[in-house]
Amino acid sequence: MPASIRTPMSAPAFLREFLRNWKTVGAVAPSSRGLAELMMQASGASQAARILELGPGTGAFTQAIAEVMRPDAAYLGVEVNEAFVQQLRPRFPRMRFEQAGAQEFDLTTPEFGGGFDAIISGLPWTAFPEPLQQAILGNVLPHLAPNGCFVTFAYFGFHQLPGGRRFRALLESLLPKVTTTRVVWANVPPAFVYVGRKA
Ligand SMILES: C[S@@+](CC[C@H](N)C(=O)[O-])C[C@H]1O[C@@H](n2cnc3c(N)ncnc32)[C@H](O)[C@@H]1O
Repeated sequence: MPASIRTPMSAPAFLREFLRNWKTVGAVAPSSRGLAELMMQASGASQAARILELGPGTGAFTQAIAEVMRPDAAYLGVEVNEAFVQQLRPRFPRMRFEQAGAQEFDLTTPEFGGGFDAIISGLPWTAFPEPLQQAILGNVLPHLAPNGCFVTFAYFGFHQLPGGRRFRALLESLLPKVTTTRVVWANVPPAFVYVGRKA
């Protein structure tokens, strides 16, 4: 993505919301373009008919999704922060955003019947207590299509902390195949992607 496509207010808006809601925002800056591209490759978003994004924030991954997504694909973004949702809706008018916690949003909508081919998470898992990690994955993963792909990033190093190890173990207990990608060193902090598949 050319740098100009990204909204110039993205980073300040993100930092402002981090200062207000640090427990849920979980990062001081939006993800980098390099991490967004890796998330797209790993998830197969360009082939997906139905895409779910968790925690789009200021749209770092949403922008990349919008660029690669099929014209006939359906997209749903679930974001708990109202200020972010207000910013996302006018910027991506063809995409649907709901303000809700990913642990509670009802995903059984007919538009997405058959499940999501790609679930792209921007959630700060290591900042979450285990019951919230379980509640979100328990609400979302049943809606991953049989050959679908769940991707989420982890900050390198943080994945070795108790919350990070707990999250990986939980993911591996719920999905039969979980792999990891290379590290994007230019991301702040450096990050890699967990790729989970049902089959
Ligand atoms: C680390 S930020 C990532 C934002 C963006 N995806 C990126 O990579 O730049 C985490 C995002 O998840 C959102 N979030 C946190 N808890 C959530 C929840 N339970 N349900 C939905 N969104 C949540 C936050 O408001 C924030 O936008």
